[in-house]
Amino acid sequence: MKGEIQTREENLNDDEIHSIIKNLNPKEYKEKVKKLLNIHQKLVEKEEGFHKTRFELKYGVSSGLSVGYFGSQGRFYVPFLKEYFEKVLKFKPTYFAETPAGSNSISYGMIQYDIPIVATNDISFWSYCISRGILKNDEILTDDEVSTILKQSCNGYLVNKREDLPMPLEVKQNIDGVVRFIKEKNIDKYYTILAILGKFMLSNLTFRSMTWDKNRMKDSNFCSVSVLHNYIKKWVKKFNVLIQDKGKDVTTVLSYQKDHKEFINSISPPSKGSVLYCDFDWPWSDGRETEVYTWYIEDISSIIFGDKIQPNISYWTKHNIKKELLGIIKLSLEKFEYMFLSTQSSNYPHIEVLKEWVTEVAKIVDYCFIDTLSLVANKNFREELLILKRK
Ligand SMILES: C[S@@+](CC[C@H](N)C(=O)[O-])C[C@H]1O[C@@H](n2cnc3c(N)ncnc32)[C@H](O)[C@@H]1O
Repeated sequence: MKGEIQTREENLNDDEIHSIIKNLNPKEYKEKVKKLLNIHQKLVEKEEGFHKTRFELKYGVSSGLSVGYFGSQGRFYVPFLKEYFEKVLKFKPTYFAETPAGSNSISYGMIQYDIPIVATNDISFWSYCISRGILKNDEILTDDEVSTILKQSCNGYLVNKREDLPMPLEVKQNIDGVVRFIKEKNIDKYYTILAILGKFMLSNLTFRSMTWDKNRMKDSNFCSVSVLHNYIKKWVKKFNVLIQDKGKDVTTVLSYQKDHKEFINSISPPSKGSVLYCDFDWPWSDGRETEVYTWYIEDISSIIFGDKIQPNISYWTKHNIKKELLGIIKLSLEKFEYMFLSTQSSNYPHIEVLKEWVTEVAKIVDYCFIDTLSLVANKNFREELLILKRK
């Protein structure tokens, strides 16, 4: 999946860009765009249908951050966690941290629950963008701002030689332009657009719509620039509602993009009343590493940044997970009063094994299974949650 990226610094005007785009596919261009718009519309409809079904499940009330494919747990754990804090533990956290935060949807729910400090961390740039653009940010993007960004974005130009990525050159140019514009500003509210680009790339390049297997990528899954613009505008509207609805003034949000250990080492929460929530990228149930996250972390970020990011992290497999995990648990419980460890039956190890491992370094306060949640995906699927405290 590795490729070579070259950038050209000169600013091209709209006409020049247009002529480049036209020359890419002189004959088929119009026909192709028409076809692509059609395909994209169907994908959007499919995605909306998917959510509707999921939200009807028990604990299936969305925390609001229903970011399509991001694999968000918030839809079921937010109501559950609130109930658990109030009825079982009988306290309300003063500090809630989440690593890896992924969609950030659990933290979003915690902001709505008025927890004073919410800290999120994930090594992936798309996740960090959601945190800064939606959780931390209080300002919405106006239509004028969005139009300006989209217009100015044509000034950035990227020649991306990564033949393995299923986007036409025009989309890559456009994404690059938007990213450059936003990066220059370095303002939280522009991260909303970066979050949308992350969402766009994930939903168009990965399993919901397509595949991460390049041998199965098809021409018919390509997207055009006009689709990208409409997509951004549509999601700006949705994300603006989330920014307005999340409530503010009560919670301070801290956003990080670090490896778990580095993150935990770098913060100093008050031990009493602090909770760390972790849903790691567990290996698959047969013990292989979850290559899908490798792909997210390295390839999607590299498109956004225009260069290769190689975070210094070790991916977990059945061979290294125990040592890595116990190290993180130990470290976490030096700083946090409680640690919530979320796992899934589709991953390694199952909770029965995990329970044995963790007793070496922590006290198990409680554990829960939630198995009515993902019936849409797989009727045997089970979510598992371990609640830990210092020994
Ligand atoms: C299972 S997902 C978390 C999903 C999240 N609970 C949600 O509801 O959206 C795992 C996440 O781990 C992140 N990740 C992988 N390795 C990491 C590391 N060493 N440090 C921080 N984050 C990491 C990936 O970027 C991915 O978002």
